[in-house]
Amino acid sequence: MKIQEMEANGTAEKLGAATHWICTANHGFAPYAQEELRRMFGAVKSTVIIPGEMLRVTLQKEAEQVIGAILSKPPIFLRHLFHIDWEWHVLEQGDLAEAIDALSAFVLSDPRLLNAGKIAVQPRKSEQSLWNGSASELRELLQDKLCGLKAEFVVRDADYIVSVFVGKEFVYAGISQPEYNISDWNGGAVRFQREEGQISRAKFKLLEAELTFGIDFTAYREALDIGAAPGGWTSFLLERGIKVTAVDPAKMHPSLKNEPRLTIIRKNAGEVKLREHQFDLLVCDMSWSPKLTAKLVSELLYALVPGGTAIITVKLLSKKPMALIQEVIETFQQSRMQVQRAKQLFHNRDEITLYMIKY
Ligand SMILES: C[S@@+](CC[C@H](N)C(=O)[O-])C[C@H]1O[C@@H](n2cnc3c(N)ncnc32)[C@H](O)[C@@H]1O
Repeated sequence: MKIQEMEANGTAEKLGAATHWICTANHGFAPYAQEELRRMFGAVKSTVIIPGEMLRVTLQKEAEQVIGAILSKPPIFLRHLFHIDWEWHVLEQGDLAEAIDALSAFVLSDPRLLNAGKIAVQPRKSEQSLWNGSASELRELLQDKLCGLKAEFVVRDADYIVSVFVGKEFVYAGISQPEYNISDWNGGAVRFQREEGQISRAKFKLLEAELTFGIDFTAYREALDIGAAPGGWTSFLLERGIKVTAVDPAKMHPSLKNEPRLTIIRKNAGEVKLREHQFDLLVCDMSWSPKLTAKLVSELLYALVPGGTAIITVKLLSKKPMALIQEVIETFQQSRMQVQRAKQLFHNRDEITLYMIKY
C-alpha cells in the first residue's frame, strides 16, 4: 500500500512510521473499538469525529502492519476503517469546492486506479458537515469529477474503494482495496431492503451474519431457534430450506402458522426436552441476560450434533463489555464450542453476535 503525502491546507505533512485512520463503530461503541486498537497496537492517539461512533486515530505502525494484524484477528467492535491518504483543513464553508477539486485531483493521480475496472465511491458526512447536501449527492458530484478514470462506478464488488468523509472542518479521503476496510460497505453500514410482509427487523441480523461470516445456510438440515418469536429468524431459516423447531413462550407471527417444516414449542427454553444431536444448527436471539443466556444455551447443546453451528446474540448490559464477552465465550468453550467469530454487526444494537462450531 503506497502511503501518500498528506496535504493539509496547502502545507504538505510527511507521514512517517505513524499512520492515520478513520475508524467507525456502532453508535456508543467507539471507545471499545479504540480499546481493541490499543490492545493490538499499543499507544493510540485519537480525535473524536462523531461522538461515540467515529474517530480519527493515529497508530505508531505502518499501514501494512495495521491491516495485517486486523485481518488476522478481526476486531469485535471496530466496524470499518480507512487509511487517511489525504486530508484537507477547510477554513470556511466557501472553501469546500476547492477542497473537493483538490481531492478529485488527488484521486485521479493515484496510479492504482488507472487500470481498476470497478471503483466504489463511498462518501459520508457528519451532522454539522461542511457539505450541505446528502451523501449520495456528494457521491454523484465526486463521480462526475472522477469521470477521467476508465473505471465503472459500482456500489458493490469494487476493485478499489474511495472513502471520503466530510466533517465540520476537515475532509478525509482514502483509497483502498475493499478487504482493507474490514467491511466493503460504506462505513460498514450493511443495508438490506425491508421485504413485504417481513416479520421483524431482527431478520436483518441473520442476513448480515450470513454475509459477514460467509455462512451457507442452505447446507443445514434442521435448526433449533431459541427465543424465536415473532419469527424473523425462523422465517429466514425456512426460506433457506431448513426444518425449524422454534422455542418461545411468546406467540409466533400468524403467517408462520401453516408452515409444514416448522414445529413451535411455546415454552421457556429451560423447560424443553430435545433429542440428542437432533439439530445441525442452533440459533438464539433471546435479548436476555448474557450470562443466563450462555448457561441456558449450554444446557441445550446436547441437541446440537458435533460439527454443528451456533449463532447467538449476546446482549451487552454491562459497562465492561470486553470482560463480559470473555466470560460468555469461556462458558461456551467449556461446552465444547469453538468461537469462529465474535462481532458487533451493524444490525446489532447493544449486543454482539457469536458464530461458533461444536467440536
Ligand atoms: C428479540 S426477540 C427475538 C426476535 C426473533 N429472533 C425474530 O427474529 O423475530 C426475543 C425473544 O426471546 C424470547 N425469550 C426470552 N427469554 C426466553 C426463554 N427463557 N426461553 C424462550 N424464549 C425466551 C422472548 O419471548 C422474545 O420473543
